[in-house]
Amino acid sequence: MTSPVVYHAIDEIRKVVLGPKGAGKRVGFVPTMGALHAGHARLIETARAECDFVIVSIFVNPTQFGPNEDFDKYPRTFDADREFCRSAGADAIFAPTRELMYPPGFRTFVEVIGWQDQLCGASRPGHFRGVTTVVLKLFNSVPADIAYFGQKDAQQVLIIRKMVHDLDLPIEIRTVATVREADGLALSSRNRFLSPDERAAAPALYRSLQHAQRLIDTGERDPGAIEGAIEGELARVPNLRLDFARAVSAELLERPARLAGPTLIALAAFLGSTRLIDNIQLDIR
Ligand code: PAJ
Repeated sequence: MTSPVVYHAIDEIRKVVLGPKGAGKRVGFVPTMGALHAGHARLIETARAECDFVIVSIFVNPTQFGPNEDFDKYPRTFDADREFCRSAGADAIFAPTRELMYPPGFRTFVEVIGWQDQLCGASRPGHFRGVTTVVLKLFNSVPADIAYFGQKDAQQVLIIRKMVHDLDLPIEIRTVATVREADGLALSSRNRFLSPDERAAAPALYRSLQHAQRLIDTGERDPGAIEGAIEGELARVPNLRLDFARAVSAELLERPARLAGPTLIALAAFLGSTRLIDNIQLDIR
């Protein structure tokens, strides 16, 4: 496989997409912030299997980071990312500069009101407003047929689907299952910040979700009981500080009186100063 061509300019990448599209080919798009790992690779490979032409964007989006978050220390590994894109089968990479995406005087944002303040949005004010704004800008630069997102960021993909629906965007959204390490830890660009002790503790996140799943399998339908069980499990883990654990409707992002139908059980926790998230989605009958 040849190395994917890297484009920095918006008008260039748009032409690169419109070429194959005009010829009736199906174009797939995988937006990322780089520091690529096997989770991202799964998205690219899925796009490769379903599309004729595949584009990956790499842009560490400043507007989705809070003032005290890790924008400056977010890993930037462009050469390795390019190699990852090549081996996963991408045709092109879109890597715009910050100045191109947010030129001086930029003042337009997109918001999915209500949902952007739930779950992760409660502890990261402004985060999802930054995500929806950059994703809409990326969709305008890369007018693909299908865009691929990971279930790992469940709230993100629900919010993006909502934006696409509400704003009639001509793009299909596909969700790809979470890729995990052998011990259950969801792959994340932030895992590299974990100390050996924190890394050893990290699989507790997914274990607590599996425990929640077992409770649901045996008939528990009270969201508070599920959240309490996760909190109880994680309270025993050294170095871990739970940010939130919530059982909500995956359609409304609200906590129902009783769990039924599509349900998202999501959590976020700090291990030292690294914030990790994980979730499972279930269809409760
Ligand atoms: P980033 O964190 O780089 O993730 C890019 C995509 O990879 C997202 O759709 C995310 O859900 C997916 N992903 C990450 N880890 C995964 C895993 N373990 N298994 C499966 N998929 C995984 O999410 C973002 O970037 C940004 O918010 C972005 C959408 C690019 C906007 O800036």
